[in-house]
Amino acid sequence: MLSEVGKDMETGNKVIDEAIQGSATTLDLKEVGNRKVYIESYGCAMNFSDSEIVASILSKEGFNTTNNLEEADVVFVNTCSIREKAEQTVRQRLRSFQKAKKAKPEMVIGVLGCMAERLKSKFLEEERLVDIVVGPDAYRDLPNLVKQVDEGKKAVNVILSKEETYADISPVRLLSNGVSAFISITRGCDNMCTFCVVPFTRGRERSRNPETILNEARELFGQGYREVTLLGQNVDSYLWYGKEGLKKDYETLSEEEKKQSMNFAQLMEQVAQISPKLRVRFSTSHPKDITDEFLDTMAKYDNICKYIHLPFQSGNTRMLEKMNRGYTREWYMGRIDKIKEVMPDCAISADIIAGFCSETEEEHQDTLSLMEYVKYDFSYMFKYSERPNTQAEKKYKDDVSEADKSRRLAEIVALQRDHSYEANKAYVGRTYEVLVEKVSKKSDQELAGRTSQNTVVVFPKENYKVGDYVQVKVDNCTGGTLLGKAKESQESR
Ligand code: 5AD
Ligand code: SF4
Repeated sequence: MLSEVGKDMETGNKVIDEAIQGSATTLDLKEVGNRKVYIESYGCAMNFSDSEIVASILSKEGFNTTNNLEEADVVFVNTCSIREKAEQTVRQRLRSFQKAKKAKPEMVIGVLGCMAERLKSKFLEEERLVDIVVGPDAYRDLPNLVKQVDEGKKAVNVILSKEETYADISPVRLLSNGVSAFISITRGCDNMCTFCVVPFTRGRERSRNPETILNEARELFGQGYREVTLLGQNVDSYLWYGKEGLKKDYETLSEEEKKQSMNFAQLMEQVAQISPKLRVRFSTSHPKDITDEFLDTMAKYDNICKYIHLPFQSGNTRMLEKMNRGYTREWYMGRIDKIKEVMPDCAISADIIAGFCSETEEEHQDTLSLMEYVKYDFSYMFKYSERPNTQAEKKYKDDVSEADKSRRLAEIVALQRDHSYEANKAYVGRTYEVLVEKVSKKSDQELAGRTSQNTVVVFPKENYKVGDYVQVKVDNCTGGTLLGKAKESQESR
């Protein structure tokens, strides 16, 4: 499952609901109209990536993107349902649009993504301001739906698909730094973790045609991008078998399908071979599916970033079973051992849930002890939030008290803080290759980029620029950021 984008909110470690706004400057528009669309995205990287697909579909109909709400003709909010709090944030935001709509009554307001899928037409009753409700597999229908609203109707399309991967759509890069971009490689999820709403909001798992993935990556590289992140709810279960369709296991493929098949390790290798100057990242890995073949591929290529987001959710096997995660504590530890064996310098992060149904104090201690075992570089940490219609909601009682959930979460957060600090300290004194992503927020004389391990490094600008690979010697760290200085003699890849 994909973790949310951004830093530092609910849990003190990472921001959960950070909005992006579309930028009009990146659009290559056909002059068929000049309506303006404003898109705001919440939740995981997949939503941000989907908003770029939406911008692309609408640009073909003459919609230009804007980052100014007041001047928008159409406003879309791409929503997240993962926890109740994420939904509350979206509802508040929708209400805050009231002022803009009053000033411009013809403004069309639409809801995209997981909340749209979960609530369907109920959304129109609950939030009277909304004109359009569109699920994640129905974005091609957006131009028609906007037309329906222009004709005075409300419009809903929440049909989930068994084939849609938007493979042929070339995303409009919103708010791009021109250096890093997302490429989605699968859609949906078949895992059915009992706590999770995603299989219901994003539908069944499908893998995207690898040719279109490779072409997109090559094109981005040609345009000057230097980093791509391959996205899926569970990238490890990527399997192309000659056509877009429901997920299959390799063993069940016909001989013909096997011949055409490509798994995640093979896809990754091909993306890595595009250029040693193109960094490749991926998210999210699943402990039950991450293979030795994939880890060996990762180790083989310097440009595959040494960073794995490997959610464990709970350190206790009874909880993991109840969550339907498909692995035990020991299996998870075995995967960590393997990662550390083949890539001793690989950073690892996790998602952790505190207070899942019937979790005892001892079981919570197992989560803390697993954290001690792995020493994650950072984590996304959550209190369990019961979601309507999930297996957990139907079968189990949400019976850990709010006070216990909060305290357990606080213990997890405190331990993670220590581990993150330790991890950052270990970088000091060493030299890392940094891909420069932007000018630092604090000073225009400093640049900011990331190491292969995904840690942010800030260093004096000198003559370097965004998009450069720079060898930086780290001499200090503050919070989640490393501070350093470019080494005098630079070897570039
Ligand atoms: N309650 C709390 N956290 C959840 N997650 C998913 N569903 C829930 C829920 N119902 C967390 C998991 C997942 C991450 C993206 O969100 O840790 O990996
Ligand atoms: Fe991730 Fe499990 Fe949810 Fe799928 S069902 S998105 S694997 S948490």
